[in-house]
Amino acid sequence: MANKFEFDQLPQRRGTGSAKWDEDEQELIELWVADMDFVCAPAILDALKNRLKHGIFGYNYLLPEYYAAICSWALRHNQLEISKEQIIPTSGVIPALSAIFHALTLPGQQVIVQTPAYNGFYPTLRNAGLELLENPLKHQGDHFELDLEDLERKACSERARVLLLANPHNPTGRLWTSSELRAIAEIAYRHKLVVISDEIHCDIRPQGSLFTPFYNVMPELESRIVTCISASKSFNLAGLQNAQIICKNPEWRAQIDRAINIYELCEVNVFGSCATIAAFTQGDEWLEALNAYIRANFAVLKQFVKEKLPYLKLTELEATYLSWLDCRALGCSSEELGALLIKEGVRLSPGSLFGTRGEGFMRLNLATSKERLLLGLERLKTVCDRLRAGSKPA
Ligand SMILES: Cc1ncc(COP(=O)(O)O)c(C=O)c1O
Repeated sequence: MANKFEFDQLPQRRGTGSAKWDEDEQELIELWVADMDFVCAPAILDALKNRLKHGIFGYNYLLPEYYAAICSWALRHNQLEISKEQIIPTSGVIPALSAIFHALTLPGQQVIVQTPAYNGFYPTLRNAGLELLENPLKHQGDHFELDLEDLERKACSERARVLLLANPHNPTGRLWTSSELRAIAEIAYRHKLVVISDEIHCDIRPQGSLFTPFYNVMPELESRIVTCISASKSFNLAGLQNAQIICKNPEWRAQIDRAINIYELCEVNVFGSCATIAAFTQGDEWLEALNAYIRANFAVLKQFVKEKLPYLKLTELEATYLSWLDCRALGCSSEELGALLIKEGVRLSPGSLFGTRGEGFMRLNLATSKERLLLGLERLKTVCDRLRAGSKPA
């Protein structure tokens, strides 16, 4: 596709307080934290400028347009039918998870998580006094699969209360199929688990691929599901802090609402809601172009690994802009490799950040320009070549 949205031109992010780019004194190629280096969609910028021009930022209600935008996007893109009453706005998915845990669990209960897992899950469940119950994914060739037998065993635990699913999965990039989700749902139903489906990455996937919202998997389970969504990943709006909990069970919804309100965390930022409305009503074309650009970057990475780093194993990317590289052939820990890469001027996320099951892997963020990606890959190659030659850099 012609590059109408200029994904090749990246503004300087250093010095803007960016968690990704201002981590260090040293100027690196930053391919780690899950946000994108692209300027957001013009329609979102216009909406924000208009709101800013108004010049008054007093206490605000969420407009009906906000709920309408979320409902229509969910239906249009993901065949998910929801209504305004079922939406609880929050400032992020992590705060949402925290509220859901506090509302629906008791300290000492267990949360089943497919590991390796998004690193933010671990402290959130610990902070609610909950225990992690790992359901490790199986590494099969170039992709990861569910271990359903293990899941069934873990679900039998008396203290197992929640299944926290990343749908799609970070960091392995899996876009779960409807039959995989059905198998999970059957286990959750049999063992009366609460299923929290974190669907924050659901819109970052190749055109034509099928995402199945967990709500659409098994009608009998509907009252035991809570979903989290947000425009923040797909439209690069994390700093504007807006996400949504979808809960169709009215009793649970009231409990979650109470958990949010008890700490007075219920207000949503006026710019966050404004950007969400613009993204979900006018963002389609930009998102399509973005997904094409991510795919092209993944193809660049794939080709690079094939030609220049054939001893690394690249996981197939079905969704998200986060690729997952098996670096175990290099014979060092992912922490060590991460440190060597930083010395060479590029930062990836060490797999061990995502739990012990991520050891030996590195996560590489593809949401940057092709040029910057290639620069980062050359630096990765320099380190890999040295390690392969048996001499660690000084
Ligand atoms: C699966 C998953 N859930 C939640 C988050 C964080 O969401 P938020 O910034 O809305 O708290 C991330 C961020 O990368 C993520 O990958």
